[in-house]
Amino acid sequence: MSHLIAPSILAGNFAYLQKDVEMLNKSEADWIHVDIMDGLFVPNISFGFPVMDAIKKYASIPLSVHLMIIKPERFISRFKKSGADHLIVHYEACTHLHSTIQKIKSEGMQAGVALNPHTTVNHLDDVITDIDQVLIMSVNPGFGGQNFIKNTYRKIEQTWNLIDKRGSSAVIGIDGGVDLTNASKLVELGADILVAGSAIFKSDNPNKTISTLKNI
Ligand code: DX5
Ligand code: ZN
Repeated sequence: MSHLIAPSILAGNFAYLQKDVEMLNKSEADWIHVDIMDGLFVPNISFGFPVMDAIKKYASIPLSVHLMIIKPERFISRFKKSGADHLIVHYEACTHLHSTIQKIKSEGMQAGVALNPHTTVNHLDDVITDIDQVLIMSVNPGFGGQNFIKNTYRKIEQTWNLIDKRGSSAVIGIDGGVDLTNASKLVELGADILVAGSAIFKSDNPNKTISTLKNI
């Protein structure tokens, strides 16, 4: 499979969300990455259900929803209702991760688990065959526009080893500081999904940047 591009709408223009979403629909983007922050798990608040509903209304590609919230199990069916196609929870935010993953899947969504930069990939050993995606955070979550953490490169390799060892079909996403300078190395090392916010929306031609990242 060639890699997928998931632009993070967090870097979009919230006064013209419809325009940005329609641009993504027409672009080579595969998914829209939707960042939900609660001000507790991460030191920032992004947006909630009304904004997600507005994104869903215009999106014709899947919404991949990254929950940076504590106890995400409280809202699984609510996010389904707002149009999430994939639900990604943080390893660090779930006391009963296995049960949370099963709940996400029982709602008909793909289940992903995100790892903060300090979290070792091996923590996923007992759930790797249950999940559809591992999202490796290449920044500390909470804000767009941060610098890429280079230790991510070896985490991709470690994730691949785990997936291989357990015969999992999970794909690997990379989130944070992804841009034209690191994208090809990430794909070479085995990243299946590149999430990018600033590199796309702050560029002169977001549509073209998506296409460059896709065809890197
Ligand atoms: C960080 C978010 C990322 C962020 C990516 O907390 O989870 O998805 O929006 O933005 P850039 O690409 O600007 O680092
Ligand atoms: Zn994200």
